[in-house]
Amino acid sequence: MSEDFPRCILDHYKRPRNYGEIKDADITVKDSNRLCGDYVELYLKFDGNRISAISFKGQGCMISQASASMLTELVKGKEVEEVLKLTKHDVTKMLGLELGPVRMKCAMLPLVALRKAIESYLSKKSR
Ligand code: FES
Repeated sequence: MSEDFPRCILDHYKRPRNYGEIKDADITVKDSNRLCGDYVELYLKFDGNRISAISFKGQGCMISQASASMLTELVKGKEVEEVLKLTKHDVTKMLGLELGPVRMKCAMLPLVALRKAIESYLSKKSR
C-alpha cells in the first residue's frame, strides 16, 4: 500500500486485538461494505448495560480491520449508552488519521456494526 499509515494502524492490522469468536456471545453481527465486500463480524457479551466482552473477525482493508481492532479495545467495559454516542470524530481520533469520504466508510464499518449489535441487544432485552 502506498499510503503512509500511522504505525499504530499497521500494528493493529498485523496483530489484531480481540480477534476471534466468542462462542457463547449474547449478540453476533456481521456487516459489510457494499462497495468492496470487506466485512467485520462482532461478538459481544453484556453484563446489564455494559459490554463485558467483545471480539471480532473480518476481512478487508487495513483501515477497516485496524479500526475494528482498536474499537474493541476502546469499548470493552463501557456502558452501551456511552458507546452509542461515539461518532465519526471519535473514530478519526482513535485512528489518529484524517480520512476522505471513501476511507471514512472503511473506518466506520466496525462502529456501524457495533451500533447494530447494541440495538439488537437492547431490543432483545426489552422483549
Ligand atoms: Fe473495503 Fe476499506 S476498502 S472496507
